[in-house]
Amino acid sequence: MVANSTLEFLKTRRSVLARNMTEPGPSADGLRDILSAATRVPDHGKLAPWRLVVLQDEARTSLGQIGADALFAKEDEKRVDAYATSAAQFLRAPCVIAVLACPKTHPKIPRSEMILSAGAVCMTLLTAAQSLGFAAQWLTGDVAYEPAVLKALGGQSGDEIAGFIYIGTPAQAPSERARPALDDVVHFGLPNLSSGQ
Ligand SMILES: Cc1cc2nc3c(=O)[nH]c(=O)nc-3n(C[C@H](O)[C@H](O)[C@H](O)COP(=O)(O)O)c2cc1C
Repeated sequence: MVANSTLEFLKTRRSVLARNMTEPGPSADGLRDILSAATRVPDHGKLAPWRLVVLQDEARTSLGQIGADALFAKEDEKRVDAYATSAAQFLRAPCVIAVLACPKTHPKIPRSEMILSAGAVCMTLLTAAQSLGFAAQWLTGDVAYEPAVLKALGGQSGDEIAGFIYIGTPAQAPSERARPALDDVVHFGLPNLSSGQ
C-alpha cells in the first residue's frame, strides 16, 4: 500500500455547498498561493488559454445583478423571489473566482485541449483551497452561459466560462458523496480485447 498525505487528501476531499459557506475567505497571501498553484496546470504549447477573475466584496453583487438581469429579461413575468436569489448567488461565499477558457487559434493544438486546461485550473483552485482547510465548490449554473456575464468578466467572443470557484469557511461539514465503483469506470487494457492487452 502506497500512501502519502497528498494522496490521502485527494482520496477524501469533499466540496462544501456554497450555501453552507461563511466568512472568512482566504487572506491576500493565501489567495495568491491558491492562484499560483492553479496557474501551473498542464497547458499544451504554453498558451495560458484561460483568465481568472477574483470576485470579492461589491464585485459579487454587481456580477449577480448582471446575471439576473440577463436571465430574467427572457421571462415574460418577473419572479421577484427568483430574481433576488439569482442576483445574490455570488454572495454565498466571501470569494468567488471566475475561470474563463480563452481558446486561441493554433495550427496544431485543438480547442478542446485549451478548454481542458481551463478545467484543470478550476480543479486546482478547488483542491488548493480545500488543502488549506477552506470550503470550496465548482459551480456554473445558468449565469455561466449568459453572454452578458461573460462580457462583464472581460471575456471575448469564443471564450467560455469554465466555472465559478466559490471559496469560504465551512459552516457545516459535508457528508460523504457516492462515487462510481472503479470497475464501472476503469478498464485495464483495451475494452474490446478479452486478453486485457
Ligand atoms: C463544470 C462543473 C460545473 C458544475 N456546476 C454545478 C452547478 O451549477 N450546480 C451544482 O449543484 N453542482 C455543480 N457541479 C458539481 C459540484 O461542483 C461538485 O461536483 C459537487 O458539489 C460534489 O463535489 P466534490 O466531488 O468535490 O465533493 C459542477 C461540477 C462541474 C465539474
